[in-house]
Amino acid sequence: MSSGPGDGVAPAPLDLDGEPRFAWRGVMLDVARRFRPLPDLLRFVDLLAAHGLNVLQLHLADDQGWRFEVLAYPRLAEIGGRRSESQLGHGPTSTLDGVPHEGSYSQAELRELVGYASARGIRVVPELDVPGHARAILAAYPEFGVGDVEGVRARNVEPWTRFGISDEVLNVEEATVEFVCTVFDELCEVFDSDVVGFGGDEVRKDRWAADPRTQELMAERDLGSEEELQAWFLGRVAGHLATLGRRVIGWDEMLEGSDAAAPTLPADAVVASWRGPVGAELGARLGHDVVLCPDLWTYFDYRQSDGADEPIPVGTVLSLEDAASFEPLDASASPELRGRVIGVQANVWTEHLDTRDRLDYAVFPRLGAFAEVAWNGGPLDWASFQERLPAYLAWLDGQGVAYRPIDGPRPEQRRPGVPGVPRDRASRVAELDRLTASLRAAR
Ligand code: ACM
Repeated sequence: MSSGPGDGVAPAPLDLDGEPRFAWRGVMLDVARRFRPLPDLLRFVDLLAAHGLNVLQLHLADDQGWRFEVLAYPRLAEIGGRRSESQLGHGPTSTLDGVPHEGSYSQAELRELVGYASARGIRVVPELDVPGHARAILAAYPEFGVGDVEGVRARNVEPWTRFGISDEVLNVEEATVEFVCTVFDELCEVFDSDVVGFGGDEVRKDRWAADPRTQELMAERDLGSEEELQAWFLGRVAGHLATLGRRVIGWDEMLEGSDAAAPTLPADAVVASWRGPVGAELGARLGHDVVLCPDLWTYFDYRQSDGADEPIPVGTVLSLEDAASFEPLDASASPELRGRVIGVQANVWTEHLDTRDRLDYAVFPRLGAFAEVAWNGGPLDWASFQERLPAYLAWLDGQGVAYRPIDGPRPEQRRPGVPGVPRDRASRVAELDRLTASLRAAR
């Protein structure tokens, strides 16, 4: 096994003593939007271990790129792993950068990562996102898209150069379920984690709704809505993974179309609750374990201040103090949820984090506060955390981490002229309310 750049990293000088509050102390890293070569992942693992964290969820596939070598379907990495250019900035005035972006991990590299992480107490949870976020898959294998192959090709489905939620989803033929299961078979040969991510988020249902063949299949299967179809699809994949001895983790949308009287997911499926508490509460009520990763406190791509010099500002303000104020189980949490939460996770989406330094900027020092919450529960005592902060920042300096300084970005960390889309908290909370309406109505 090769040694990583950060071998022998000393523990971060944080309050991480005694028994951890949460068993699952995770970070999700999106290597689909931005491929990071293996040495960067090994360094990231060292840094997570130094923060007392024990799960790295690796988001290996999305509309913008497929990063996992699949021997049975080599075009996934060859074609799905390369996009012609990338969106620069966010929102209506964003542009394209004209720079091809590519990369995928060989199975040997990922085995090395799994072993390296395991030796440092970290489980690598692989994630492939289905049945939505499917453009990179369909660029390589259009036969798995909605409509005939010529129709999919005519839509110019390529690994997406834009960010957002594409409307390309997998079709729901038996052959497509088999394809997905074969890919997960290979994933499970490489990753030994008992938990495997299958996505399930942000599935645009318009194509399914407009496609006569999909509607025919829904009728044959006695499914009354596209939400039920999504639940059916995810249930099939989760059932297959169960035969391999794995349990799934999926984003809280996987509970859409669920019915307590006729569950489609295995009881041991884990809900990653990112859109406020609704999915967490429903998941717990249905008997699922829950990992809490509410975007307002744990999405480290969100902007760190409302300053004009924040690089490509997206999302709501999530300052270091906000990260420290994360209260995973506040007074409103039900007893069922309290009994079902297995942990917390910070999610690092990388649309706008195109270098290792930009990744560092987004993650640190917020990860220090998150790590203490994962270890001790939250919210943190801010005054006491601030007392530890100078030593922690000095430690980050010692590790060569290009973190965000407390008083704002250094000149080279800014992105002057590159637009973002800052959100305010009230409008995001209202949006989350709308997005989770169907979960609130679930039986
Ligand atoms: C997600 O942020 N789409 C899980």
